[in-house]
Amino acid sequence: MRNRRTTRLYHLLVIQAAEIVMADPAVPAIINLKKIKELCMKKDFISIADHSPEVLQGILDLAIELKKERSEKGENKQLLKNKVLGMVFQKPSLRTRVSFDMAMRHLGGDALYLSPNEIGLGQRESIADVARVLAGYVDVVMARVFAHQHVLDLSHWSDVPVINGLSDYDHPCQGMADALTIVEKFGRLKDLHVTFVGDGNNVAVSLLHICSKLGAHFTLAAPEGYDIPEKALKESQEFASKSGASIRTIRDPHEAVKSADVIYTDTWTSMGQEEETERRIKVFPPYQVNNKLVAEASKDVIVMHCLPAHRGQEITDDVADGPHSVLFPQAHNRMHAQKAILVSLFR
Ligand code: CP
Ligand code: NVA
Repeated sequence: MRNRRTTRLYHLLVIQAAEIVMADPAVPAIINLKKIKELCMKKDFISIADHSPEVLQGILDLAIELKKERSEKGENKQLLKNKVLGMVFQKPSLRTRVSFDMAMRHLGGDALYLSPNEIGLGQRESIADVARVLAGYVDVVMARVFAHQHVLDLSHWSDVPVINGLSDYDHPCQGMADALTIVEKFGRLKDLHVTFVGDGNNVAVSLLHICSKLGAHFTLAAPEGYDIPEKALKESQEFASKSGASIRTIRDPHEAVKSADVIYTDTWTSMGQEEETERRIKVFPPYQVNNKLVAEASKDVIVMHCLPAHRGQEITDDVADGPHSVLFPQAHNRMHAQKAILVSLFR
């Protein structure tokens, strides 16, 4: 099995090979690989909080370039030729599974879906053993887990890069796709007012991370007892003090959406919390994103949801399918953002 040092060298070779492809005048060079090389990228993509604003901005810029390249030329350069992504899932998925798979294929690589029944992460086999075995077969691992510690353990034991495809704590790939969607709509994230209405869950944490890293004003409107975890708030305050972002947590959704450029919501009951469904369904109705609430925001407000949506609960049909909704471009941007994350990990 490769150790960490040889893995790093291997990553450099991949980039050099990609540069040779790009030096070929027959291949139009629109991807600024130099920029990727300048990024001080960590081995893994576990949390947006782990990365500098420069790295995060670099990933977003690259996502825009890769998306443009595919839309203009119908294909991407094969930057991940012969690379295989192992996708470990402890929970169901549509977007994460398909967008990662297609991202790898478009970049010349392949992806392997490993279902909860096959791996039995931490049950059939210890996480340390799974990580060390997988690292000898695949070039990068993406894991969707229940406990955040499990993805941290995978990253600790794996010699190949590990990507967090959602944990109970955060959902960083979603956060990057969300930022890409906002930047496409407004040209920037800085100084925008982003309001998350509902449960201060994993998706809210990653949105807070990216807003505080890149200078947006973040508001959470949540019922008491459903705030963003203290750890995420604390670290984000620190990021905000450097970027000029601000962070508010309030109870009143109407106050929260006043002058919002972005309204974001997500399910009231995340995967793994199913036994709390009955209680949550009683607490959250005042936090529904409906036409009345949207009308109280900026007139050009966009409405976001990571999906899957529970229509009639956290969001109404008329909002999800209405003129302010960016739900489907947002879902599609998962693939573009993840292409950039994958390529950056192989710098
Ligand atoms: N938004 C998201 O992660 O969707 P899936 O659960 O379908 O992957
Ligand atoms: N908060 C949701 C997001 C699903 C993509 C969950 O964890 O189930």
